[in-house]
Amino acid sequence: MRRNRITAILLFGFLFLTGGRADSGILEIESPQNGAIYDDAYASLVVKTPPGKIRRLEIETGEGKLYIYKHSPKTGYYCKSVKLKLGDNNITVTAYTDDNETVKKSVEVFYRSEVYETADEAPYRFKKYFFHSDKNEKKCSRCHKMEPDFKKAPKKTVKAKGGLTEDIQVLENPQDSNCYSCHEVLTSRKNGHAPSVNFMCTVCHTGKAGENNLPDEGKSKYLQPDPIAPDCFKCHERVEEIMKHNRSDHGPTKLGRCNKCHNPHSSPNPFFLRKPIWELCTTCHAEMASGKHIINAFVFSRNKGGHPTRGRPDPSRPGRELVCSSCHNPHGSKGPFLLRTTGSTPFKVCKRCHKK
Ligand code: HEC
Ligand code: HEC
Ligand code: HEC
Ligand code: HEC
Ligand code: HEC
Ligand code: HEC
Ligand code: HEC
Ligand code: HEC
Repeated sequence: MRRNRITAILLFGFLFLTGGRADSGILEIESPQNGAIYDDAYASLVVKTPPGKIRRLEIETGEGKLYIYKHSPKTGYYCKSVKLKLGDNNITVTAYTDDNETVKKSVEVFYRSEVYETADEAPYRFKKYFFHSDKNEKKCSRCHKMEPDFKKAPKKTVKAKGGLTEDIQVLENPQDSNCYSCHEVLTSRKNGHAPSVNFMCTVCHTGKAGENNLPDEGKSKYLQPDPIAPDCFKCHERVEEIMKHNRSDHGPTKLGRCNKCHNPHSSPNPFFLRKPIWELCTTCHAEMASGKHIINAFVFSRNKGGHPTRGRPDPSRPGRELVCSSCHNPHGSKGPFLLRTTGSTPFKVCKRCHKK
């Protein structure tokens, strides 16, 4: 009992010392929220300091980078999109004031991705936070436009081709979207998804929930439904057709969770995939990495290593490499095992590449 009281007093003293300094208002991290879960690789870091009082500001992120602001802008706001590494990230901000005081604050966030074993689930202390409420947006509206009011902005037409089934209207200048000033970075990776790059963010971020995220309804103006597939089908009817008329279907696609494999914004990989195709498939199908699954007895008698699944040109798709999706359609198929064939036996697929 007595010992508890001492601990309590010590603890209180400790909080007073550290908390006291932090509460002096020298340094506030307005975003990200401590303990937030991210599903994409960037967090918006917004640091508030008293105008003109800070000599130097250092930011240490999960990527280990150090941003150093030597001069203090008059406004006292520092905004910076920071790249996250998979899993746990500590973002630490250190402010050095003109009167030689040093104030440090940090937040911890978790970048989650279901196709990486090390980061597929956030530990219990993390949760999903939502930013877009009137109350939060007010803090930014002094400098940022918060209303998505670009109805009158000039538009251009994207013609139906490739994955697209109908012409669509997009902004001529993405900068006309108010989302651009804060979220440009989401569209900055090598392969950008057209509706994101053109800032038609609200085609998916309708504010509505789906059956998997009903409890989140009303928490953000820009919520997106989970499953997201019905929104993808607004433009990708062909995938919807395959799924409607298939004989074999694929777990994650059937559940409508296209975003498990595709990053809806942009990605370094083709088709905006979260990993290169071979690595993506073998994340969930590790036992298929050897190629011994492919009509094993037959192939093995002719080629002891089993059938190749990569590292050779794909005879059926000029310019592309052989990979799992050379033989399997990840969305569904009229044949067995998602094979790119309408035939009823797996052997039918061989003809795509082996003419004899
Ligand atoms: C005092 C003015 C001011 C306030 C208040 C302000 N910002 Fe900013 N913000 C800016 C300016 C100016 C830029 C552009 C900075 C640049 O281009 O280097 C910016 C850029 C950003 C960026 C993009 C940074 C990047 O690296 O891409 C984000 C994200 C951002 N702000 C978020 C916010 C949020 C969230 C709030 C409210 C909590 C907020 N800002 C409040 C002035 C402000
Ligand atoms: C002032 C900066 C700012 C502007 C402008 C802005 N956002 Fe955000 N948004 C944020 C911040 C901060 C978060 C929290 C996550 C993060 O760290 O980026 C966020 C989160 C989100 C989320 C995740 C759900 C949520 O509410 O947290 C979506 C979706 C989103 N924004 C869409 C949009 C769209 C669409 C627009 C344009 C109509 C927009 N944002 C304009 C700063 C901004
Ligand atoms: C094709 C549909 C689609 C479009 C277009 C789209 N998003 Fe998203 N967005 C999603 C989905 C689905 C998620 C859920 C998380 C995930 O799968 O990565 C998401 C998540 C987000 C998040 C939360 C990221 C995080 O780290 O948790 C932000 C912020 C966001 N979107 C902003 C935007 C902005 C800004 C635009 C326009 C430039 C945009 N989105 C366009 C589908 C879309
Ligand atoms: C507003 C319309 C629209 C929506 C909604 C939409 N897309 Fe797209 N998508 C496009 C356009 C436009 C292209 C580029 C078409 C082209 O040039 O092949 C594209 C391209 C793609 C591609 C690459 C196609 C290729 O052949 O390279 C993939 C993959 C894709 N989208 C997935 C998705 C997913 C997953 C969703 C839902 C989360 C989605 N899209 C929602 C319009 C949309
Ligand atoms: C299991 C992972 C996975 C899931 C889930 C998934 N895709 Fe794909 N998707 C891929 C891969 C891999 C490719 C590239 C296929 C190739 O090699 O041509 C692709 C290609 C595409 C393309 C462009 C080429 C084409 O086949 O039309 C579109 C559009 C597309 N996906 C949309 C979607 C939509 C919409 C959903 C949800 C209904 C979805 N995807 C779910 C893995 C996936
Ligand atoms: C997120 C995990 C995940 C990813 C990524 C994934 N799959 Fe699957 N796959 C599944 C699940 C779940 C099943 C259904 C398992 C079962 O019923 O045994 C499945 C089943 C299959 C089947 C068997 C279908 C049948 O009719 O028996 C094939 C073939 C397949 N996947 C190929 C692929 C290919 C090719 C890729 C990469 C484009 C891929 N998968 C990526 C989860 C995944
Ligand atoms: C050359 C064509 C080809 C390639 C490349 C290929 N597969 Fe297959 N796969 C098949 C055939 C044919 C079957 C039918 C069953 C069999 O032959 O054992 C099959 C079956 C499967 C099954 C279902 C097996 C079962 O027992 O349930 C999965 C899962 C699968 N493949 C995943 C993959 C993955 C992951 C890759 C890439 C690492 C891949 N395949 C590459 C042709 C291929
Ligand atoms: C998407 C194209 C593709 C499909 C479909 C495909 N293969 Fe292959 N196959 C290849 C490539 C590429 C090689 C490697 C050729 C080389 O090394 O020159 C190969 C090699 C082989 C080999 C070993 C080398 C040889 O020719 O003796 C056998 C056996 C084989 N395949 C059998 C099959 C069978 C059986 C099927 C149907 C289940 C099949 N393949 C489907 C592309 C394919």
